[in-house]
Amino acid sequence: MSPRFVKSKHFFEEGTIESLAEVSERKGKVWDAGAKLDVVGKSVKRIDGYDKVSGTARYTFDINLPNMAHARILRCPHAHAKIKRIDFSKALKLKGVLAVHTHSNTKRIPWFWNISSLYDTHLRYEGDEVAAVLAESERIALQALKLIEVDYEELPFVIDPGDAMIEGAPKLYDDGNVMRGKPDIYERGDIERGFSEADYIVEDSFSTQVEIHHPTEVHCSVVNWDGDHLTVYDSTQGIFSVREQVARSLDIPESRVRVIKKYMGGGFGSKLTTGKYTVIAALLARDTGRPVRIALDRKEMHMAVGNRPDSFQTLKVGAKKDGTLTALSHYSRGSAGAYPSGAGCSWPMRSVYKCDNVKTTDYTVFVNAGPGRPFRAPGHVQGTFGMDSIIDMIAEKAGMDPLDFRLKNYAEIDQVANQPYTSKKLREAYEAGAEAIGWKENRQKVAGSMPGSIKRGLGVATQIWWGGGGPPAYATLKLNRDGSVRVLAGSQDLGTGTYTFIAQIVAEVLELSLEKISVTIGDTATCPYCGSSGGSTTAPSVAPAVKDAAEQMKEKLISAAAAHMELSESGVRYSKGKIIDTEDDSNSIDIATLVRKMRERVLVTTGRRSQNPENYSINSFGAQFADVEVDIETGQVKILKIVAAHDIGRTLNKQMMESQFYGGIIQGVGFALLEERVIDPFTGKIANLNMHDYKIPTMMDTPNMEIIIVSKSDPMISNVGAKGIGEPPMIPTAAAIANAVYNAIGVRIKSLPITPDKILNALYA
Ligand code: MOS
Repeated sequence: MSPRFVKSKHFFEEGTIESLAEVSERKGKVWDAGAKLDVVGKSVKRIDGYDKVSGTARYTFDINLPNMAHARILRCPHAHAKIKRIDFSKALKLKGVLAVHTHSNTKRIPWFWNISSLYDTHLRYEGDEVAAVLAESERIALQALKLIEVDYEELPFVIDPGDAMIEGAPKLYDDGNVMRGKPDIYERGDIERGFSEADYIVEDSFSTQVEIHHPTEVHCSVVNWDGDHLTVYDSTQGIFSVREQVARSLDIPESRVRVIKKYMGGGFGSKLTTGKYTVIAALLARDTGRPVRIALDRKEMHMAVGNRPDSFQTLKVGAKKDGTLTALSHYSRGSAGAYPSGAGCSWPMRSVYKCDNVKTTDYTVFVNAGPGRPFRAPGHVQGTFGMDSIIDMIAEKAGMDPLDFRLKNYAEIDQVANQPYTSKKLREAYEAGAEAIGWKENRQKVAGSMPGSIKRGLGVATQIWWGGGGPPAYATLKLNRDGSVRVLAGSQDLGTGTYTFIAQIVAEVLELSLEKISVTIGDTATCPYCGSSGGSTTAPSVAPAVKDAAEQMKEKLISAAAAHMELSESGVRYSKGKIIDTEDDSNSIDIATLVRKMRERVLVTTGRRSQNPENYSINSFGAQFADVEVDIETGQVKILKIVAAHDIGRTLNKQMMESQFYGGIIQGVGFALLEERVIDPFTGKIANLNMHDYKIPTMMDTPNMEIIIVSKSDPMISNVGAKGIGEPPMIPTAAAIANAVYNAIGVRIKSLPITPDKILNALYA
């Protein structure tokens, strides 16, 4: 995590060089906790809401260009194989087929950090790309795939990371199956001394499953060459990172690649990196001169575009009689799948609770299965389940209430960086959440006490995440001479509400109605740079840049109006799109007239995200409480309620914030109780390759949810004071549910998902 980049003292952008001090001075206009805001924070309706509910919003999947052809991919049916021979002559002869690409007729393009290639002959999982067909229709392309003859040499395979680490296991790479050849080790203090000082020690193992992202909109690209310029419509979380990867793969300048993404139906991390399918489509398009659409189907989504790595964790904790933690040790191994992707999950153990002696060891292991990808709080969801399970176990051993135990070991400062936080309101979150769930009154009362087969219990778990955002992120604001505004930012909306919060911020600063503000994002050719939407960084990075642009515009307008009115700048004030003489309210000019009087057509400002403060850590925090019922006859778990109390800095839009929480908690319920990719160990093939057998929560599984925000703003981060909330809502949900299940039935389920069979087996063991 340590930044190794060169820190510039300046912002460079579009020919301007501006010192940090200049930006920081503007940052002086900070919305602190007491700021009275009219638009920001309110449940403003999404500005793109009508387009979406009326069906007029065009997602990448909906884009249909004239003369467009359709591509589909042939995928390896085996867990591990080599291509001995491939013959696509029959496929090429099928009427309507335009091209077939495979390793034999395509230039080698490095992929996965050059340990593989776009079309590799060594196939490492069921779903690995073998060839692609371009045809007049998707149906013809699918028919043609069946006509491609491939002789595979099947190889021995390994699915379980534990098996893959054993000497003599089938190897995916010559260097062996452990990524980078060694574990990621973190240590502070003296772990042995920590355990020797403990009065209680608890050690246990936990496991979590592979989870598939399954966003609503499938992965999809539409590509079009115009001479040597390529336009890529892509369902992506990072338009600029796709531009970079596509340009590199095709060996053309980034300036000749334009990536556009207007709307997206979710990504959850699976759309953070460029997919092979995008480059495959670009090559087919270049070869045939046709616009090309490629959309993956649900099976491909399941196999080949990422997953949350599984985990096997052994945790050991020591505590004194009074509950003070003396040592924390965490071992994990998790699967990267067949290609590099981090599977470590020890960050919660390193950072949540106060402890001087900590050691964590994370192995990321290659296996013959679909590659992992970041998935909504990568590592933290798995790691929090292990950590907060064992914390409950040692609290019980020490005879303490789980919440009291957590408060006893509250970390006032960042345990890893050994420095203060810009803000931390976790204590307030514990207290507010406990109050809302009725922790003190109900926990002892309900625990397993109900007569009959239904047992009820309460559980708690803790959330930590980064999500402070940071530079570089820019926003350009254009004020037209009718007084309307267009904002441009190279960010992207995953469905989370980026369009709307950008408009809200401009409306707030310039005191304009939302109808006057239009927002353009998701276009690398027209928008200034913003980073990928990952790590819960979008709002905390982009919102401050937008505010900066709007504040600069307001300053320009005040200055110009004062000159025009022959008053000093302090002799005028800005209100609702007008500049007014402070001594005579009737003497004023509105901004539209002002722009005309300035003989300007459009006024332009560019705002920047300021640097984060040095020597402070920026994290978000939260506590979730679960109230569950377990039927000990059927093993069914019913979640009555989840209370989520979080510190997120400033809320930009209450309704959209709550929606993020609902989505995260529901995804957490899926992880806790339902979702699991199952691979048959004998064939290496996925056994539940459909949405019927892979269970995603439905309305029927959605619990009652109460969202409590304990923070108002974190003014040290930025002029806006917002922390990201994409990932935090999901982090503690499964752990809180698991602890509640234990409270209900007195038996701990140490393996997710908590399915009825596991509960019944544990009860009768
Ligand atoms: Mo996220 S897993 O950074 O999209």
